[in-house]
Amino acid sequence: MDAKPPQRLRIALLAGGVSAEREVSLNSGRQVLAALDPARYEVTCYDPKTDLARLVADAARIDAALILLHGPFGEDGTIQGMLDLLGIPYQGSGVLGSAVAMNKIAAKRLYREAGIPVPGDLVLRRSDPLDAEAVTRRLGLPLVVKPVAGGSSVGVSIVRRTEDLPAALAAAFAHDREVMLECFIEGIEITGAVIGNDELEALPLIEIIPGSGYEFFDYGAKYTAGATEEICPARIDPELAAEGRRLAVAAHRALFCRGYSRTDMILRGREIFVLETNTIPGMTATSLLPRAAAAAGIGFGRLLDRLIALSLEGRPPRGGGP
Ligand SMILES: Nc1ncnc2c1ncn2[C@@H]1O[C@H](COP(=O)(O)OP(=O)(O)O)[C@@H](O)[C@H]1O
Ligand SMILES: [Mg+2]
Repeated sequence: MDAKPPQRLRIALLAGGVSAEREVSLNSGRQVLAALDPARYEVTCYDPKTDLARLVADAARIDAALILLHGPFGEDGTIQGMLDLLGIPYQGSGVLGSAVAMNKIAAKRLYREAGIPVPGDLVLRRSDPLDAEAVTRRLGLPLVVKPVAGGSSVGVSIVRRTEDLPAALAAAFAHDREVMLECFIEGIEITGAVIGNDELEALPLIEIIPGSGYEFFDYGAKYTAGATEEICPARIDPELAAEGRRLAVAAHRALFCRGYSRTDMILRGREIFVLETNTIPGMTATSLLPRAAAAAGIGFGRLLDRLIALSLEGRPPRGGGP
């Protein structure tokens, strides 16, 4: 089963890019590069910010790509479409899954249709007039404001007083032309990772507890070492944990995802609300999905092997021809 391939696989590692999550991506890229087994893989790095022409030129000599890009122009289907055109397999979701998961309006429509519980919301476009009183009457306070196509909590705020709404909207509109306003769900934040193609394995849930200095799981809480406690498996009762894992699988399927994904949720009482699905979750050794994999007995290097194997599943070997 596990015999070494006769030749090393030629992997294109894509990290960097142009989104607000560039630094996060570069960090994932460095750690993945260090963890890939040099006996199995010959790795070349490409930063889409500067290296797209080189990627195109090298396409015929690449067996698979590992996309470690987050946010627009990386996680949203654009790079995936380019790799499809170049005939390069890659880990995770294709154009469709990537695009709908990136857009919180499209994702929520599909969640709702699949019977997945989500917080109530409304969407504002930049040119829409704002009736702050009407908004807070409809959604209640606190409420959450977030860019429709963001990530890493960039541009996300929690609004506790009606008069703070305009500033929160301005912060979100700095990143997107459309902004989602959501009912705030007070509860325990959990995230559920899944891995697989046809057969999906739901990994143990992680419970996320931002430190006392953080209002929610914001950018600082996500990327400051030690700022957030992450407990895996989450300390919730087995029935709710099973429901969380079921929802992670349901969300993955509802959004046409492939390979792997990580769905963010909030548990309030005995109700679980789905917030969003990440198609390229953070990939440092201590990121959430790798931690959940470790709890399931899959170390970081083996996780990468598995993602690469999943990306090649069902594809003929490229064999050097065009
Ligand atoms: N409806 C909500 N209720 C409570 N907290 C929320 C809600 N929406 C978002 N948050 C908080 O904001 C964080 C980021 O929101 P999320 O929808 O996951 O967007 P991102 O793509 O930026 O990660 C969440 O991890 C959570 O801490
Ligand atoms: Mg999130």
